[in-house]
Amino acid sequence: MTDTKITTFWSAAGGVGKTTLAVVQAQELARQGEKVALLDFSETRPEICRHLGLPFLSPEEILPAIEEKPMVTGKIFARKGNLHVFTGVPLEQFEMFQEKHFAAIIQGAREKFKNSIIDTNAGIFFSATAAALKASDNINVVLRPDMPCLEDTAAMINFLSERWGINRNRFKFYLNRILPGKGELDRETAEKILGREVLVVSQKRTKPENRLLKFFRKGGLIHAHKSL
Ligand SMILES: Nc1ncnc2c1ncn2[C@@H]1O[C@H](COP(=O)(O)OP(=O)(O)O)[C@@H](O)[C@H]1O
Ligand SMILES: [Mg+2]
Repeated sequence: MTDTKITTFWSAAGGVGKTTLAVVQAQELARQGEKVALLDFSETRPEICRHLGLPFLSPEEILPAIEEKPMVTGKIFARKGNLHVFTGVPLEQFEMFQEKHFAAIIQGAREKFKNSIIDTNAGIFFSATAAALKASDNINVVLRPDMPCLEDTAAMINFLSERWGINRNRFKFYLNRILPGKGELDRETAEKILGREVLVVSQKRTKPENRLLKFFRKGGLIHAHKSL
């Protein structure tokens, strides 16, 4: 398939809203009628499938399916309507998977879906995160509004650009200022530290309509997909 796009949600610090925003964006694209791949690449507790009410696909069975040519995507993605979800690999089984396996899953998604959204871990060196960062057309960097998060982000992006050759223009920045009880920095400060435009994740005061969003945000619907 030509003109396909891989978008990764990534951050330097944990607990900033990556999973929340990745799911919101994938659901929004699916709602618009597109077939979308949503890849859960968080290594400790893959949780997207549980929230979407999907079965967890066994990593042992996925591994041979990845190596078949052509790849058997039906065995790798669990399906819910237009969403096709790679349900992830928990920590206990993570060592079976190398960066090349995650890269192959991304390539399989790229060949089949116009849009693929990847939810990653914080940091750089997990094989799944590394594969996602190297393969992505867009890297949506989620920021917590505090100084350590912004400084770590700037340092890691320098590394990714200088050592792995990842073009800085692929990074887009989202300041999640509505995380409960986390930091107060404003957009201007974030832009000064990163030297780039930063968008703020805002909140819509309507009731969440679906279970997943209810789970993620009790009280107000996260309303970021328009700018993502
Ligand atoms: N914009 C937001 N408004 C309110 N709560 C949020 C928002 N973004 C994330 N959260 C909450 O913060 C916590 C961490 O979010 P999560 O998406 O799991 O972060 P990450 O994937 O980066 O670890 C979750 O409990 C989530 O519901
Ligand atoms: Mg997460």
